[in-house]
Amino acid sequence: MVDLASQYKKIKIEVDKGIQEVIDSTAFIKGPKVKEFEKNLAEYLDVKHVISCGNGTDALQVAMMALGLKPGDEVITTSFTFIATAEVIAVLGLTPVVVDVNPDTYTISPQSIRKAITPKTKAIVPVHLFGQCAQMEEIIKIAKEYNLFVIEDNAQAIGSDYYFEDNTQKKSGTIGDIGCTSFFPSKNLGCFGDGGAIFTNSDEIAEQLRAIVNHGMKVRYYHDYVGVNSRLDSIQAAVLNVKLQHLDEYSAARNRAAEYYDKAFANHSNITTPARYSKSNHVFHQYTLKLKDADRDALKAHLESKNIPMMVYYPVPLHLQKAYKSDRYKAGDFPVTECLSNSVFSLPMHTELDEEQLEYITSSVLEFFK
Ligand SMILES: Cc1ncc(COP(=O)(O)O)c(C=O)c1O
Repeated sequence: MVDLASQYKKIKIEVDKGIQEVIDSTAFIKGPKVKEFEKNLAEYLDVKHVISCGNGTDALQVAMMALGLKPGDEVITTSFTFIATAEVIAVLGLTPVVVDVNPDTYTISPQSIRKAITPKTKAIVPVHLFGQCAQMEEIIKIAKEYNLFVIEDNAQAIGSDYYFEDNTQKKSGTIGDIGCTSFFPSKNLGCFGDGGAIFTNSDEIAEQLRAIVNHGMKVRYYHDYVGVNSRLDSIQAAVLNVKLQHLDEYSAARNRAAEYYDKAFANHSNITTPARYSKSNHVFHQYTLKLKDADRDALKAHLESKNIPMMVYYPVPLHLQKAYKSDRYKAGDFPVTECLSNSVFSLPMHTELDEEQLEYITSSVLEFFK
C-alpha cells in the first residue's frame, strides 16, 4: 500500500545525517532534535504548542487525561475509524458513545452528534478520516452550545487545511481544544518506528500535557498528576525534521495519484470515487472507493493475483466490534457506517506512485468488471 523504500532513497543523505548526529551526540531521549522538531511542527501548523509523545494512541489518551475526563464521562466519536480512537476512551474508564458518519465524506455526522448528547457527555472526538477534515465549524458550534471539549484525531490528515465560513483557514488538528497525530511509518508524516504528537493553543492545557507524558511531573521526581511515559525519541525526531520539510510536496504527490484514480474510475457504474469536502483540502492518507453490485473479496483476489494490494479500512464498525459490544447498540443502528464497512476498499496510495504503476493498478481494477 506504501513504498517507504523509494521515499527514503530520495532523502537518504539528509535523514542519515540527522540520525548520525543523534548517535554522535548520544542524546537519545529528550535531545535537541526533539525540541527542534516540536518547534518546526508548531511553526508549520501555526499552533502555539506541540508536545511529542510515543504514538498516536498515547496522544489521544494523554489528551483525555489532560482535560480531566473521569470514569463515567461520555465521549462521542465516530463508528467508522481505526480502533485507537475509541480504545483510549474505554481504557480510561470513560464511555465511548459512537455515532454514524456522512455517506459522502465518511466523517462524523454533526446531526448524529447532537442526538447522542446527554448530561454525561464531556467531549467530542472527530476523526479527519482518510485525509480530509470533519465538519469542524458545525462540531465546534455544538461543543460551545453544550460546553464540551473537542479533541481532533488528526492521525490521517496532517497537513490538510480547514476553510472557515469567514474565509480564514487553519491546519487540521489546531481547531479544537487539542489535536492528536501519529507518526506511524505509513502515515503522511511518518517516522522510522512509533511516534506521535499533541497540539494545543492553550498554555494551561499544554502544561498539563507536557507533565502527563513525563510521568506527571513538572519538576523531576515531583509528581503533580498521574502520568504516563510516552516519548518521541531523538532518532525519530531527526527523521521527522527532514520529512516535515517535504510534507507539502508529499501531499501534492498523493493528490496527483488521487486525480489519476479519479479520472480512471469516473462515472463507473460499480465504483464511487472519494468525495471532496468543500471546506477542506484532501491529503489522501487513503484513496478509498465504494463498490456497488460486485464482490469485494473477488476484487481483492483478482488484484492480489496481479500483485496489487487492496485493503478494507474498516471492515467492522466500532459498535459491532466484539470488545465494544454494548446494550446501547445493535446491528442496523448506523446504516451509513455499516454500508461503508461492507462496500469500501482502498487502493495503494503513497508519494512514489508513478504513471506506469497507476496505469497498471487502474487497468487491473477496470478489467475485473469486464
Ligand atoms: C485515526 C487514527 N487514530 C489513531 C491512530 C493511532 O496511532 P498509532 O498507531 O501511532 O498509535 C491511528 C493509526 O493508525 C489512526 O489511523
